[in-house]
Amino acid sequence: MSDFIFIDRFKREEIEGLFELTDDIKSRPDLFASKCRGKILATLFYEPSTRTRLSFESAMLRLGGSVLGFADAKVSSAAKGETIADTARMVSNYADLIVIRHPLAGAAQVMADYSEVPVINGGDDSNQHPTQTLLDLYTISRCKGRIEGLNVGICGDLRYGRAPHSLALGLAMFGGKIINIAPQGLEMPRHVIERLRILYGADVETVRDLKGVISDLDVLYVNRLQKERLPEDMDYEEIKDSYAITPNSIRSSKPDMIIMHPLPRVNELSYELDGDSRAIYFEQSRNGLFIRMALILALTGKAHLELNPVERERIELEVKCGNPRCVTDHEPYLHPTYEILSSEGEEKFCVYCGYRL
Ligand code: NCD
Repeated sequence: MSDFIFIDRFKREEIEGLFELTDDIKSRPDLFASKCRGKILATLFYEPSTRTRLSFESAMLRLGGSVLGFADAKVSSAAKGETIADTARMVSNYADLIVIRHPLAGAAQVMADYSEVPVINGGDDSNQHPTQTLLDLYTISRCKGRIEGLNVGICGDLRYGRAPHSLALGLAMFGGKIINIAPQGLEMPRHVIERLRILYGADVETVRDLKGVISDLDVLYVNRLQKERLPEDMDYEEIKDSYAITPNSIRSSKPDMIIMHPLPRVNELSYELDGDSRAIYFEQSRNGLFIRMALILALTGKAHLELNPVERERIELEVKCGNPRCVTDHEPYLHPTYEILSSEGEEKFCVYCGYRL
């Protein structure tokens, strides 16, 4: 059984296999309409969502399966104090596959550890959003014909956004070149930069301003300011306009540069760009449906495609994870556990939230 928690636990070839399956589903959806008959998907959403939850539900329904779940933690037993581990044990009895979104980093890994059925990470705090990355990489590869060698500018709140963290890992895996464009204080966290370097030897350049790099970019990937996760000492109103993308800010881009965004947008991406041929964010989001159909088929054994997570050594240490938002700091039965990412064995990262020890 395989879970889908961190994008970097899979090999590039397997993800490419998923993209080919996605092409098949997109071109002949009728051939897949009853592949998951009798299967049940549980969507456990402890945080707001439109695209991720509804596209997963639509994906399962379009495969002939059924869905159950909740879209608000207040109506689940979490409100009574039930742990993630116990919820995982229960829901395994009711469903064949689980998608979880949760406000604690590492919650998806905990659910996977205690569930009897495969678990998909639908976003865990500011840690990871690996299925967003699948649809992002798929969109880039199908629009540009490749990912390797492309210059991808990832712009916006790269600290609290989870989509940019998974995306950077996915891009590095495929040989894309990452240019981070972030306001002061919202740069990509060190543990993500280190993960990129250790796993893929990726060097990440960070700049403050789009202006100096826009003409080099093949892809501009915009992210919103994650208001719900900003610390109190950061002024949302002040930062929010600082990197808004307008037709003027991309005036000197390559004509075939593409503009992407995981959505929802607030004010960082002008509506005036919607009719621009470079804007592909709605197509990007539509791809989410097909890629999630492919992922469901792979994880329920309904496609000739197995996803085999890379084996990594796990060690338990009596050293607390340094991330105050890590699930290990909130669920009392968990022991701090680290995975070793490199053969030298020196680099240990929290198996749940990805922080470096
Ligand atoms: C993203 C998320 O939830 O992290 N949304 C999505 O799933 N498309 C991005 C965001 O909320 O900014």
